[in-house]
Amino acid sequence: MPLLEAAGIKKIFGKLTALDGAALTVGENEFHGLIGPNGSGKSTLMKCIAGAEVPTQGKVSFINTDITAFTPTERARAGMSLKFQITSVLPTLTLYDNILLALQAQSSLFDLVFSRTRGALHDQVMTMLTQFRLADRAFDAAAALSHGQQQ
Ligand SMILES: Nc1ncnc2c1ncn2[C@@H]1O[C@H](COP(=O)(O)OP(=O)(O)O)[C@@H](O)[C@H]1O
Ligand SMILES: [Mg+2]
Repeated sequence: MPLLEAAGIKKIFGKLTALDGAALTVGENEFHGLIGPNGSGKSTLMKCIAGAEVPTQGKVSFINTDITAFTPTERARAGMSLKFQITSVLPTLTLYDNILLALQAQSSLFDLVFSRTRGALHDQVMTMLTQFRLADRAFDAAAALSHGQQQ
């Protein structure tokens, strides 16, 4: 079973048919590239997969779930994530605080108000930094990283 499957994707903007039966299947541990001239519909297909656009017709499945009508948030909860060319780190915060902030987004308001998250999330922050071989940079400002490290 593929990890991601987009089938028969059609997207119509007014009188313009941007996609007409586009299909993409991605299996586990596979990398795919999508190439084509300007205006050929690459971004529109990615938006239909990510949930920024809803296809006029067709189906997107992710890990055996029909996510065609899922919001971007619901897709993220299902395990899908997007990486953009432009990074969105908070440059003046440390790497540690950038990761902590992302993890705190999943914390309850109660825990945030009573400052219970910093200690509780410490191990998770360090595990992630270690996984990306950035633990020794934990307390550098994110702006000091290379573009690749920021990604
Ligand atoms: N929101 C939109 N409204 C109307 N037309 C759009 C919209 N987004 C993209 N298009 C049109 O759909 C076609 C495909 O665009 P796009 O997916 O951005 O192509 P690519 O990323 O391959 O350059 C283009 O003709 C573009 O003008
Ligand atoms: Mg594009």
